[in-house]
Amino acid sequence: MDWRTANELIPLSYFKEIRASSPVSFKKETDSWDVFKYEDVKTIFSDHEHFSSQGVETTKDPIEASVLRQDPPKHRQLRMLVSQAFVPRVIEGLTPKIEAIANALCDQMEASGKMDGLHDFASPLPIIVIAEMLGIPQDDRERFKAWSDALVGNNSERYYQCQQEMSVYFTAIADQRRLEPQDDLISRLVRAKADGEQLSDLEVIGFCILLLVAGNETTTNLISSALLLIDSHADVKEQLLADRSLVPQALEEVLRYCSPVQTMIRTVKKTTVLRGQTLTPGQMVNIWIGSANHDEDIFEHPDIFDIHRNPNPHLAFGHGIHFCLGAQLARLESKIAIQTLLTRFPEFHLDRSHVLERIDSWMMFGVKQMPIILR
Ligand code: HEM
Repeated sequence: MDWRTANELIPLSYFKEIRASSPVSFKKETDSWDVFKYEDVKTIFSDHEHFSSQGVETTKDPIEASVLRQDPPKHRQLRMLVSQAFVPRVIEGLTPKIEAIANALCDQMEASGKMDGLHDFASPLPIIVIAEMLGIPQDDRERFKAWSDALVGNNSERYYQCQQEMSVYFTAIADQRRLEPQDDLISRLVRAKADGEQLSDLEVIGFCILLLVAGNETTTNLISSALLLIDSHADVKEQLLADRSLVPQALEEVLRYCSPVQTMIRTVKKTTVLRGQTLTPGQMVNIWIGSANHDEDIFEHPDIFDIHRNPNPHLAFGHGIHFCLGAQLARLESKIAIQTLLTRFPEFHLDRSHVLERIDSWMMFGVKQMPIILR
């Protein structure tokens, strides 16, 4: 049987070895550092005085100007503004909509008895949810999906072209919502106020694009990794089928075990000594969430998938001021996705004649295709 488990797709043994031998390692070719231990990863996330998230200033890329790539005080101001459009009550209120979307996707697959876990389920779900939140009209959904796909693809020409198209499209929607506010995210963004400031057009558009880049592929990968891990742990599947309320804690363990974002980047702002190594201003640092979440100093038997792990202080959503703004939404979407699939197709299992392949990215963890037999 030519079939791979998550353990073979993520370099767990490499991470283990390097945590022991060279937890803060320097790469001469790129003048950059890689940091692998949990405590160091957490320290860097917490310390924006020494480690900057700042984007490249010369670029017009709206992502570089977004909340993700700002340091205080600009970060605080932008975060206060965009958080107003992302309040817990609004996210919780999406439950019936997300359930309807998950069930509609299951209806489409029901007749054939087969699906691709990615293309038919884990990928469309977050895209439809965010389109609903933003208030994208039904007729524009196909275009919206194409943009979302292009933003995470490898074609840089298409990436910039699609940012341009989205800028034109969202500027028109923002103008319209200023005149006639609706109950959607864009209307809340254009109205948001903090310290007497409002978001500029570029910031509203940058945030809309950021939501697609930061929110879609990550949630897709969380859902598909959950399917993979549930399928390869028969005892877990049995427990979840018997008690659906265990799904949220199982998803926390998926976030730890197969962290969708494997690494984030910071730039050294002030000289810092970490485990005897001197990091100097201007150098880049890759902070390895994927390794931190398997650190044996924090997690007992880290390479065992244990849905009853308690506590489970994983760093999959980051830590500190940039902590994922979409964490609540990602948790809600993935909970509904997995609970719906378990209810609709309790006998689902991965087609083991298919060899799983990891997506072409070292920053993200996910698989390319996932044929599933539903019953
Ligand atoms: C930030 C992971 C889903 C929006 C982050 C960060 C991580 C992360 C690690 C911190 C980045 C840093 O410190 O530089 C994830 C994972 C997700 C997910 C694993 C799914 C499983 C989402 C969703 C949305 C979203 C669904 C919105 C629709 C954001 C935003 C930020 C962010 C706006 C920037 C926050 C800031 O800089 O203050 N995410 N994310 N994420 N995420 Fe997520």
